[in-house]
Amino acid sequence: MTETDPAVRAAELRTLLDDANHRYHVLDAPTISDREYDLRFRELVDLEAAHPELGTPDSPTQRVGAPVEGGFPSVRHAVPMLSLGNAFGTDELRDFDARVRKGLGLAADDTPVDYVCELKIDGLAISLRYEGRRFVRGATRGDGTTGEDVTPNLRTVRAIPLVLKEDPPGDELEVRGEVYMPRGAFAALNEQLEREGRPLYANARNTTAGTVRQKDPAVTASRRLSLWTYQLVGAHGLATHSESFDLLRRLGFPVNPNVRVVRGVDAVIGYVEEWAEARRDLEYETDGIVIKVDSLADQERLGFVSRAPRWATAYKFPAEQVTTKLEEIEVYVGRTGAMTPVAHVTPVFVGGTTVRNATLHNIDEIRRKDLRVGDTVVLQRAGDVIPEVVSAVVDARDGTEVAWDMPAACPVCGTEALREEGEVVTRCPNPYCPAQRIGGLLHFSGRGGMDIDGLGYKIMVQLVERELVKEPADVFRLDADTLADLDRLGRKSAENLSGAIEAARRRPLGKIINGLGIRHVGEQTAIDLAGWLARELPRENDESDAGWTRRVADRLREATVEDLTEVSGIGGVVAEGIARFFGDEHTRDALHRLLDAGVEAEAPLAGAPAEPVDGPLSGKTLVVTGTLAGFTRPEAEAAIRAAGGHPASSVSAKTDYLVAGDKAGSKLAKAEKLGVTILDEDQFRNLVEEKS
Ligand code: IVH
Repeated sequence: MTETDPAVRAAELRTLLDDANHRYHVLDAPTISDREYDLRFRELVDLEAAHPELGTPDSPTQRVGAPVEGGFPSVRHAVPMLSLGNAFGTDELRDFDARVRKGLGLAADDTPVDYVCELKIDGLAISLRYEGRRFVRGATRGDGTTGEDVTPNLRTVRAIPLVLKEDPPGDELEVRGEVYMPRGAFAALNEQLEREGRPLYANARNTTAGTVRQKDPAVTASRRLSLWTYQLVGAHGLATHSESFDLLRRLGFPVNPNVRVVRGVDAVIGYVEEWAEARRDLEYETDGIVIKVDSLADQERLGFVSRAPRWATAYKFPAEQVTTKLEEIEVYVGRTGAMTPVAHVTPVFVGGTTVRNATLHNIDEIRRKDLRVGDTVVLQRAGDVIPEVVSAVVDARDGTEVAWDMPAACPVCGTEALREEGEVVTRCPNPYCPAQRIGGLLHFSGRGGMDIDGLGYKIMVQLVERELVKEPADVFRLDADTLADLDRLGRKSAENLSGAIEAARRRPLGKIINGLGIRHVGEQTAIDLAGWLARELPRENDESDAGWTRRVADRLREATVEDLTEVSGIGGVVAEGIARFFGDEHTRDALHRLLDAGVEAEAPLAGAPAEPVDGPLSGKTLVVTGTLAGFTRPEAEAAIRAAGGHPASSVSAKTDYLVAGDKAGSKLAKAEKLGVTILDEDQFRNLVEEKS
């Protein structure tokens, strides 16, 4: 018999192609030519077409599936995807080491700790689940607890094995890592967009995030994303983190070759210094170094503080600075009427992105820095932070530079601008100013609110100008046909946006409340308010989410300032803001109108109201002010919550502690006046880390 059995040949081709894929995308050591690969790939496609019964879901031909309808399903992570504490500078690395040693009960002359040093990849964190050897689900990090199921898109990433090379330990396996877009792929994508006369992407990281959340996997497949894995969930009988890298490699996952185990903090600092410049030559962007305690037993002993492990930290490279020209200053009016001056600069590449605009904060800052239009300026961008103009290069002036002042009137509606005594912000006082309306609607549709993907500034402006959207509820009455009539929105995008609106009809109550944009109510207060409502009005057994949401809305509309001040975390000013919102004839029915338009809150399960956590800060209200070295603001608030306490945003007589960081200002003064106990960062850390 000369003819090969099709089933045998198909299996042979799959092995050959999988192996070629692994060598090319994971090991970076190809053994067959692209042409050879293409020929074999074609042969397999033809074979599977001729013998459909031979198809398998894991075949290399099956990486690109059909477009996703509507939004991505939510995924609750079995083990939360945490973030990392930060270390800026080598002193803070030594502080980290000191905390680790203290936590492990090591004396100064005991042996140094073994650390694993890894490059911090600037991409998108994902989780990959395998059952047996098969890849079954890929999810984004989301908020750490719940992410999005983006399996069809991740299947197209060639560095992700669809089938493991060995049997994994256990029936199920979860691996985490960072998908990223290699510099070359990003440059090629922008070159293509430029040829097509379309707007370019500013940076690889955001493009990666957008690519992973594409509706059409074919688009994701065309973008050439790649992956480094850095975490195996569960110990699987291993003793060290570095051993888990060996296992990951054997299973077929890409592990960054620059991972290194070092002994002691001096060697960590050596690694950091080695990569400070060398990182620029890598094929991917990095924004720091991740340092992890190698011993898994020690990791276990150290545990976690709020949302971050004590056994790891992220060293951040110093902010990058460049010079460019300040071409123009424009004033933006936000949803509260705040007028913010923004610098338009000659585009420059800094910190991994092309920057065109940078915030100037307010007029006092512009005067303090003596910035003039036409100046050569130093611009800085650190990590995720909004780019900032640091200073003017005075020596570069030639006399043509022009001093700038805040306009006397709102640039959008022309109402005379106001600046109140003691405030740094200038405001447009007109509540009907279109800029405020658009700002409010964008807040509503944005991440902290209904999180409607693709409903950005340009579309919102058109919707408001055409009077299709006057208030939040109107967003939920838009359909694909109406959207397709907008300028610069094709049929396909209109359908995607309509799907995103559909998917946003159900959101946690806190998000919906936050989206309303009630004066003084931020994300935390909205969560506090939602928690209170969930406890006050437990959901009935047979009650629908919509029914529960309506009862909640009724209750809110009746809430008095006295009721609201009872809510832990809510002070007098905030309570008044809420009561005024639900008392004002224009806004009192805003929530009800949303419900009428088909929005509902995800109701907590019957009998399971959000229980306050029992911990060292139970029943205590804390306000954080100023900059803390070891916590971002959300991290500090999460630490307070995890310890059972309540983070609040304003100081009142009900505040138990004020946590004062660097540059604490008026809140510190107020707390001192009221006799509130003040904590510095170390005292705060000791308190939240105390075992309950
Ligand atoms: S470890 C509990 N390792 O950085 C440990 N993270 O700030 C969690 N990241 O969400 C993460 N490279 O997106 C780890 N080698 C690396 C990393 C890394 C990039 C990202 C990841 C994570 C964030 C933490």
